[in-house]
Amino acid sequence: MPQKIAAGNWKMNGTLEAVPEAGAIAAASGAVETILCPPATLIGPLTLAAQGTDLRIGGQSCHPAASGAHTGDISAAMLADAGATYCITGHSERRADHGESDDDVRAQTEAAWAAGLRAILCIGETLEQREAGETLDVLTAQLEGSLPGGATEENTIIAYEPVWAIGTGKVASPDQVAEVHDALRDHVGPEMSLLYGGSVKAGNAAELFALTNVDGALVGGASLKAADFVPIVEALA
Ligand code: G3P
Repeated sequence: MPQKIAAGNWKMNGTLEAVPEAGAIAAASGAVETILCPPATLIGPLTLAAQGTDLRIGGQSCHPAASGAHTGDISAAMLADAGATYCITGHSERRADHGESDDDVRAQTEAAWAAGLRAILCIGETLEQREAGETLDVLTAQLEGSLPGGATEENTIIAYEPVWAIGTGKVASPDQVAEVHDALRDHVGPEMSLLYGGSVKAGNAAELFALTNVDGALVGGASLKAADFVPIVEALA
């Protein structure tokens, strides 16, 4: 059985004032694997807030190199040093904002593994690609291009995030999610956790989690406040 996972991606949101939210989320974690991926500046403080609880902390991206002349970047080893045990790779916002290719994502995922981090590798189609009927082809190409050989359920989680559903309030329908997740399951085998991401909220989580091949969610906006995120975690438990 794949592990059930509720992961929050805080994106570029949060300052020290947000640490108590993580504390409240930490207090509710335990029944399922619960992860928060804050901005890098908050990995240390959130690691401290999560101490002694089951909440795990992750980075949102990492440079493929371990160290060096890469101004503004952060390595997987640095994330691990700050307390992270997870790292998101291949988020569509990184692919769009920073031009990250499948090759880059593969190198980042390998770097995350080398630092002992479990990767949360994101794939997703645009609205244009969906409307052109290319969804499964696009996702297969992304997966084949960005998932390194040697991926196992222990070092990798796959997150399906349709780009058109991220931050739009437009959640993919259960049929759309099921079609993709069933295809992904055939690809990655029976044990790897498959998360859905894109406008997940307390009100739609249970319906998504009821799908056979949905093992949890990668949540953006609704992970910033414990009052919004804890019910999602509870819906999965
Ligand atoms: O990585 C999470 C994400 O992109 C979904 O964001 O705000 O639509 O839940 P949101």
